[in-house]
Amino acid sequence: MQDASPKAWSGRFSEPVDELVKRYTASVTFDHRLAEFDIQGSLAHAQMLNKVGVLSATDLAAITHGMGKILSDIRAGNFEWSIDLEDVHMNIEKRLTDLIGDAGKRLHTGRSRNDQVATDIRLWLRHEIDILIELARELQEVLLDLAEANIETVMPGFTHLQVAQPITFGHHILAYVEMLGRDVERLMDCRKRVNRLPLGAAALAGTSYPIDREYVARQLGFDEVCYNSLDAVSDRDFAIEFTAAGALIMMHLSRLAEELVLWMNPRFGFIEMGDRYCTGSSIMPQKKNPDVPELVRGKTGRVNGHLVALLTLMKAQPLAYNKDNQEDKEPLFDTVDTLSATLRIVADMMRGVEVKPEAMRRAVKQGYATATDLADYLVKKGLPFRDAHEAVALAVRYASEKRKDLEELSLIELGTFSPLIGVDVFGVLTPEGSLASRDHIGGTAPKQVRAAILRARIRMAR
Ligand code: ARG
Repeated sequence: MQDASPKAWSGRFSEPVDELVKRYTASVTFDHRLAEFDIQGSLAHAQMLNKVGVLSATDLAAITHGMGKILSDIRAGNFEWSIDLEDVHMNIEKRLTDLIGDAGKRLHTGRSRNDQVATDIRLWLRHEIDILIELARELQEVLLDLAEANIETVMPGFTHLQVAQPITFGHHILAYVEMLGRDVERLMDCRKRVNRLPLGAAALAGTSYPIDREYVARQLGFDEVCYNSLDAVSDRDFAIEFTAAGALIMMHLSRLAEELVLWMNPRFGFIEMGDRYCTGSSIMPQKKNPDVPELVRGKTGRVNGHLVALLTLMKAQPLAYNKDNQEDKEPLFDTVDTLSATLRIVADMMRGVEVKPEAMRRAVKQGYATATDLADYLVKKGLPFRDAHEAVALAVRYASEKRKDLEELSLIELGTFSPLIGVDVFGVLTPEGSLASRDHIGGTAPKQVRAAILRARIRMAR
């Protein structure tokens, strides 16, 4: 960053801004990230000013030309950002004026940085939301492929992290496809409120020029304009909503990450994960640490933090624009960066998951996961559920004393717990029998899992 000319508004001021104050108040070190969108917004504004007769065709041509040059300099990394010029908006405007003279000074007619910055953030965020939606969908695809390869893979389902009932690994993975589906819905919904145009609100009250806001909205692809000028410059609801949607995405990915950490622990041994997602220990040679899922879990904290930061930023601001709002950018930028990196890496990591079906099946057996099936069997033979529950509890206790699985008990042994138990009981005591019986929409029967995958694929193709 270079230090160059005096402040753009210094006519009213008698002493230069203190060096520390300058650094404290400048945002260009981070908001230069909005540059392309700032230029896009300025061009639409200039076109509108020309259309309503406020800006000459010659000035518009000069502005368009100058902005083209600035854009290519920025893209090539040849643009000198100066903190003397405070933010991205004034840096670009000053450069434009250096390039084209008075026409550059006319660009800011009927506009303020207050409506300008609100427009820039919305344009930028809309662009990022579209990318994030794509990334979330790609992760869904990866998970659907993993589910499809494991439609019949038996694993224990857990409640309280204790073995509960047999499920299929495919069914388990589909739970995350559902979560991501809601995440995509939330992003699409939030996008609607992002996609409204603040420009035209000027500093706060509107402007005396005969502007055409709807024209600008169309030029920039906004669905509509913000209908109150005070609200237009001060509203950051859309940023908070977006960050809330982001926090939910991270929370979902963190839960998945936590499961990966558990599953790859040798005591579970349900999966192996590619070495490239793990690191060794500098001191314990036997270790393979799941660093990537751990970081996914850890990074969830910063996005939650950004949500709270934005809510706190807004909570006591009087209308309309206040400089506080400049603090909206870093949390937003970091939320987007964290989400996009995390969605990408989780997708790649899930592609590399190697499933260990024998270990999963062993865990089903050790956990008496078909006990509920035995109870349901007795209920279907006429026993009240509470009595069936008690009979099965005794059977499990007996089996565990004998160090056997339920299906390894003989018919005679089983018969001591209820006279209703017949030879057909063995059909429900196997994990496969248990799975197949949960045969309704949303159930874990392989037939239903197959249908759910198909349904998800059709939904996503729309
Ligand atoms: N850098 C400022 C921001 O990010 C731009 C708007 C400043 N407006 C003002 N009147 N100081 O919010």
